[in-house]
Amino acid sequence: MADIDELQQFEHDVLVIGAGGAGLRAATECSNRGLNTGLICKSLLGKAHTVMAEGGMAAALGNVDSRDNWKIHFRDTMRGGKFLNQWRMAELHARMAPDCVRELEEWGAVFDRTPDGLISQRNFGGHRYPRLAHVGDRTGLEMIRTLQDHGIHQGIKVYMENKALGLLLDGDKIAGVLGLWRETGRFALFKAKAVIMATGGGGRAWRVTSNSWEYSGDGLAMAYHAGAELMDLEFTQFHPTGMVWPPSVRGTLVTEGVRGDGGILLNSKHERFMFNYIPERFASETADTEEEANLWLNGDKEARRPPELLTRDVVARAILAETEAGRGSPHGGAFLDIASQKPPDVIRRKLPSMYHQFKELAELDITREPMEVGPTMHYFMGGIRVDHDSQQTRVPGLFACGECAAGLHGANRLGGNSLSDLLVFGKLAGIGACEYAASLPSAPAPDAGQVQGLMRSATDILNRETGENPYSIHSDLQDLMQAKVGIIRNQAYLEEGLDGIDQLRTRTAGVKAHGTSQYNAGWHEALDLDPLLITSEAVARAALLRKESRGAHTRAEHEGENEEWGNRNIVTSKAADGSMQVQVVERPAPSEELRAIATATLEELEGTAS
Ligand code: FUM
Repeated sequence: MADIDELQQFEHDVLVIGAGGAGLRAATECSNRGLNTGLICKSLLGKAHTVMAEGGMAAALGNVDSRDNWKIHFRDTMRGGKFLNQWRMAELHARMAPDCVRELEEWGAVFDRTPDGLISQRNFGGHRYPRLAHVGDRTGLEMIRTLQDHGIHQGIKVYMENKALGLLLDGDKIAGVLGLWRETGRFALFKAKAVIMATGGGGRAWRVTSNSWEYSGDGLAMAYHAGAELMDLEFTQFHPTGMVWPPSVRGTLVTEGVRGDGGILLNSKHERFMFNYIPERFASETADTEEEANLWLNGDKEARRPPELLTRDVVARAILAETEAGRGSPHGGAFLDIASQKPPDVIRRKLPSMYHQFKELAELDITREPMEVGPTMHYFMGGIRVDHDSQQTRVPGLFACGECAAGLHGANRLGGNSLSDLLVFGKLAGIGACEYAASLPSAPAPDAGQVQGLMRSATDILNRETGENPYSIHSDLQDLMQAKVGIIRNQAYLEEGLDGIDQLRTRTAGVKAHGTSQYNAGWHEALDLDPLLITSEAVARAALLRKESRGAHTRAEHEGENEEWGNRNIVTSKAADGSMQVQVVERPAPSEELRAIATATLEELEGTAS
């Protein structure tokens, strides 16, 4: 085992882990402020889940409907999150998003335009007005391209294909990260005064997911092991429309932009079934006028906001119910039809990626035929618990932003709020980390024993004589999570899920990767197992504890929201004996101003933004 002084070493004021939208935005902020900033990413720069937010970024620019403003965006976000969101985060997000979008444009993002030349905005589920600034159906990609180009010219030092193995501490403070080069299999010691976690979620724990291989909950697990808290993990978003066919691409995202631009959902009897899934209480809470609620409830096809644009939790459950009732499409989903709603040239112009995706992967022309779609595990509303304004965790020097941080989205995220989340909270985490780093009298020193321990447990996987294949453990976990911790949960399933996770942990203790440390994908797969299991256990434990159905968390035996749970978050942390503990905490109360905005009528808010 190499002595720590012999390791390759790098030193930065701030080190960002993760090169998606949040990480790039945070790193740009730090670099702009003159800090020596490093960024490490497990994969290639810009290969991030951000690109899966295809349809746009939500910001109350008011370009398509001038009645929109931050207060209405805030109110929509709280309603969509079933009022479990952290109030202050929802406020900061709604207030700052428009400027963050304009800043991105100044840095080179080329948005679609309105006829007047303004940034164009489209409809999305749960947003009262057309609010999603977009670039066709490639908005996340354009965001990444812009941040990458801009960030690199700010002098950020990027370390690609380097997997972060663990956070290093000096006492209780962050001191750096131990990384592992994927190609050479050599360790690298990154010393840093502050670390910003921007690693996304853990969707790869499920079988059907829009997430690519990188999303194994690494940031959540590293923060958890370092003493940070996780929160709201029970709220996992199943995007209603993933591809269901062919099997090799099952789960690949079909943007909500298809529905935002007029696509409708049909069952095998060609019924537009979403009208049957608007519970009365839901309609009266979500519709802004009685007239609108009645339009929905009566199945009126002229309703201004079609029921296909109800929030994702509602649409995903509806598709599942149709398939379970035997009215699904041939491959177990629903039909998403835009061909009957829009001319081919409009479809090709507004949804070019979807057009090509279906042509190339499913040999289907979406300008002529409906797509087959079904729910796909897409996003974690929960994540690392952070301070609202600075994004700092309870570990001094550790910050988190983007999907791996909790708080903004409550029980359910509105589509498009993720991209604006990345910009707003990436920036705030950058500011928070800079201020923290500047306040330290001297650079912390990583603990040598901790570094040695991390290296030993990584190399044990290569060095044991025999052991189980990591791919089969991961595959079994995906089946387990899909079956037991899916869209509809119940106590028995969740308990079986937790038992299964326990057994997988025992198997993981003896996992073996064959071959040498170089170019060893099996070794890296084995290293992903601990984060996958920590993440899965945290989701299942929180889901078992929350005895109600709220937003994306549905408990079959606890129908509907329970008032008692309406103000409670579930916080997960590592106990002194190494076990996982979950506890219920009361959410901080909002300011009077925010409470009033959240409950105001639309008329009271239109045109009042300041
Ligand atoms: O459907 C989509 O384009 C996804 C957007 C999002 O998750 O925000």
